[in-house]
Amino acid sequence: MAYIEVTHETRSFRNGDQLTVANRDLTFTVERGAVVTILGPSGAGKSTLLNILGGMDSPTSGQVKIDGVDISRFTPKQLTTYRRQAVGFVFQFYNLIPNLTARENVELASQITQDARDVDQTLALVGLSDRARNFPAQLSGGEQQRVAIARAVAKNPKLLLCDEPTGALDYQTGKQVLQVIQDAAKQTGTTVIIVTHNSAIAQMGDQVIRINDAQIQSVHHNAHPTPLADIEW
Ligand SMILES: Nc1ncnc2c1ncn2[C@@H]1O[C@H](COP(=O)(O)OP(=O)(O)O)[C@@H](O)[C@H]1O
Ligand SMILES: [Mg+2]
Repeated sequence: MAYIEVTHETRSFRNGDQLTVANRDLTFTVERGAVVTILGPSGAGKSTLLNILGGMDSPTSGQVKIDGVDISRFTPKQLTTYRRQAVGFVFQFYNLIPNLTARENVELASQITQDARDVDQTLALVGLSDRARNFPAQLSGGEQQRVAIARAVAKNPKLLLCDEPTGALDYQTGKQVLQVIQDAAKQTGTTVIIVTHNSAIAQMGDQVIRINDAQIQSVHHNAHPTPLADIEW
């Protein structure tokens, strides 16, 4: 059984008489432990899909099974538990709490979940042991994003969801951050989904899902994903 099974997932938004279909009849599967990239232009429906996978939103119709359980029928309370226990999020803007140190930001996330990872080991995993006592404003953008990755990974999530994680970073820093995500995923066996509008970055995925105009254009399985060191954009 695939770890993620999305079947005929549709999400539309109504604003007055205007109906926007953000995801139209999406069907795909993802194997446990895969690093998946979702590629598509701005407005294609990528964040809508990620939010649904992460239990921040629910589809208008269709099924979204995670580990055999259909989360599309979850109550708000079940969704809260799912987000807390099963999902780690990394966003374009790091969303760290400014008056907590790097370590405290990670610790806070680890406290809301059962079965959390060790905070210091997780900071070491993202290469930030020596910056643990710094506040976000004392860290570079790349370091702040690594704290955000540590915060997500410390929850020991089944699913790590990253929405344009390098969108605010320069080229080299972006590459380093993607490497940290990939290494953390492979070391912990976490299933990872990375949203990007950059087709070069997408080649790091074991699976590349192209979305355009709310629909899936193609699903490509990479037997040999391109190593990040070889990716140029
Ligand atoms: N909460 C919402 N209410 C109304 N329209 C939305 C909402 N969220 C997304 N949309 C619309 O759905 C479409 C897809 O948006 P989004 O998933 O954010 O695309 P992407 O992340 O690929 O840029 C866009 O037309 C966007 O305006
Ligand atoms: Mg988006």
